[in-house]
Amino acid sequence: MPLSFISEAEPGRFLQLEVSQGSFPVTRRPFTISSVAGNSVDIIFEAVGRGTEILAETKEGRSLRLLGPLGCGYRLNSGKWLLIGGGLGAAGFPGLAAGIDCDQVLLGASSRGKLLTIPGARTVAITEDGSSGTKGLVTDLLGSILWDSYGGIALCGPVPMMKAVIEAIPVKARANVQISAEAMMGCGWGACEGCSVPKAGGGFLKCCSDGPVFPADSIDWERWEGIH
Ligand code: FES
Repeated sequence: MPLSFISEAEPGRFLQLEVSQGSFPVTRRPFTISSVAGNSVDIIFEAVGRGTEILAETKEGRSLRLLGPLGCGYRLNSGKWLLIGGGLGAAGFPGLAAGIDCDQVLLGASSRGKLLTIPGARTVAITEDGSSGTKGLVTDLLGSILWDSYGGIALCGPVPMMKAVIEAIPVKARANVQISAEAMMGCGWGACEGCSVPKAGGGFLKCCSDGPVFPADSIDWERWEGIH
């Protein structure tokens, strides 16, 4: 990777990867930058559609074209951080945790195989089937959190899960919450308007260029949940 790419690959930003050199998929696919080490960048993905299946089948050593780093990442507030993630939505947490004072990570997933590992971070896990950690949802872990003790709270995962977490956070602590959004993306740089996220107060934000990391209170959660 060129040095300029590495230096700009901040936590929360993403890249658009051309997974195929054939006729499908036509558009690049977005991937959160998971971590940066030396002159390499890691991404974490699950093969859930033809694009990611093609990527999973790609032979080691093959070159792929990419665009990035794109978008706006986390505002790195001072103070301790709490990270809350659901499933592979937490793919950006390894790089984030390495660059902040990370107090703890709360991770929820459907099962053990869907749980990510965040190197060096104190992690509490919960799974819906009980195969790792206690059985339940990540919202079940929030009861003893001292919200006011955190300078930053990062949240990512499915929209209903993020909405449920935010509703469990005292209103005065919500200003410290930054969410990492996921959306279908075409261009990746603000031209196609294919990645809209409902904005609080009306209108839309572009996930690719206004985000993908947003202050939680900039989102209209009712409208966003309604389209998921
Ligand atoms: Fe085209 Fe966001 S992906 S505007």
